[in-house]
Amino acid sequence: MEIMADKNEWGSNLSFILAMIGSAVGLGNIWRYPYVLYSNGGGAFYIPYIVAILLMGIPFLILEYGVGYNFKSSFPKAIRKIHSNWEYLGWLLPVAVFMIMIYYSAILGWDGIYMILSFTKGWGANPDTFFATTLLQSSDSMSGLAHFIPIIAVAMLIGWVIIWFISHRDLEEGLGKVSKVLVPALFIIMVIIVGFSLTLPGASIGLAELFNPDWSLLTHFEIWMAAFGQIVFSLSLGMSIAFTYASYTSDDADLITNTISIALANSLFENFAALGVFSILGYMSLQSGTAVADLVTQGTGLVFVVYPTVFNVLGQWAYVLGPLFFLTVYLAGLTSILSTIEPLSFSIQNKFGLTRSRTMTILVIVGAAMSMIYATAYGGELLGFVDTFINQIALLFGVILECIIFAWIFKAEKLIDFLNSRSKTIKVGKWWLVIVKYILPIFISIIWIGGLIDVINTGTMEQLNFTVVIALLLLISTGIFTIMPAKNPEWDDTEERV
Ligand code: PFF
Repeated sequence: MEIMADKNEWGSNLSFILAMIGSAVGLGNIWRYPYVLYSNGGGAFYIPYIVAILLMGIPFLILEYGVGYNFKSSFPKAIRKIHSNWEYLGWLLPVAVFMIMIYYSAILGWDGIYMILSFTKGWGANPDTFFATTLLQSSDSMSGLAHFIPIIAVAMLIGWVIIWFISHRDLEEGLGKVSKVLVPALFIIMVIIVGFSLTLPGASIGLAELFNPDWSLLTHFEIWMAAFGQIVFSLSLGMSIAFTYASYTSDDADLITNTISIALANSLFENFAALGVFSILGYMSLQSGTAVADLVTQGTGLVFVVYPTVFNVLGQWAYVLGPLFFLTVYLAGLTSILSTIEPLSFSIQNKFGLTRSRTMTILVIVGAAMSMIYATAYGGELLGFVDTFINQIALLFGVILECIIFAWIFKAEKLIDFLNSRSKTIKVGKWWLVIVKYILPIFISIIWIGGLIDVINTGTMEQLNFTVVIALLLLISTGIFTIMPAKNPEWDDTEERV
């Protein structure tokens, strides 16, 4: 039954689940997961992957939901209640997610351009040169910052307008309703694309290559790191998104069952995407005589170079499959980017007493203006730096921080009775506490340090300098939000539901 929702409340549990799936299912599922699966032991990767879901994805999400539900307030407001001097930590994650939003908007813009191009295969005979040179006019020198590329700016601004159009409304009217349409649509289109890809000649070559298990890798620490890293990114963990979404729920949510549904839907989608990607690569391999191993790649290279190359040899079908594919990427990106504005927006509404609509308008304007740095010839290079910073440093740090604050300081024990009393499926108990209090923080800290060392060892001087600048920007803007005096008299009355 739909209830009359307040400005920041889901109209139904379905809206909550679908919005959360929308956040989880994104570029990470389409362009990252297939490659991660392939390059980390193929079929053998399922062991660390399932362990990562059971040991981290589900237990951690239950924790983030439980605490978010308990406070029914924004992340910094809750952290302040947990410990009055720690407000700074409360702003850190919402500001970091907003940084994700800004670079995600660039990729959305590029994809929008490709969606249009795909109707005519407008990338020409050389997708590689087209992407790097014609479209992005990539330059790895900082002087590229002075070279503005209007077409990318326009495509990105269209994305920002769509985001504003959805987000400035009341939660259920905007994000809730949109998720109910776009998330199912995304799954349906994906089924069509994958179904078609599986019928292509050569599909089985790609799939055999993908799943061919390399069991020897199971003893390598890197594949465990890759599995945990993938689950953190893919489920949008540790970024205060799940926390914020749970705080928007009404009083009767079954958070444990929701968590399981979301984790399942996310994995289903990414494994499905892997089938599609490798069927297409198998087809391409058969056509071109190039080994799958030489075709496979991830990220922008997969979506904007390999796929257009495949569409070039696919004949007439490409005019259907191409637009559908870029539409899928767009929808997946859009439903994820919509989640990245929520934590900071809710925090600002809480502290400064602004309305949802006004806060969203301000954030969209600021985000759009800042994102224009990616509409320069140096944008692609910069995006790579920010992406590494977010993936290797910020996200895992968020998981560790939340484990410490929620499981230890807030005390996860307090949630057990409440979570179990609502749960129609599994119950949490001692094992859950051991995971969120000990196993996760220790294990993720090891991975985090490994990632940090990796960035320091493999990064160029320029990358390291930029990483420091990005980190400083994050720390300073977090400080500004913390120092600014609150305007909302209720900033310090945070009630608890559990
Ligand atoms: N979960 C999204 C994906 O798989 O693409 C990406 C993402 C969105 C990560 C939001 C983190 C985040 F805060």
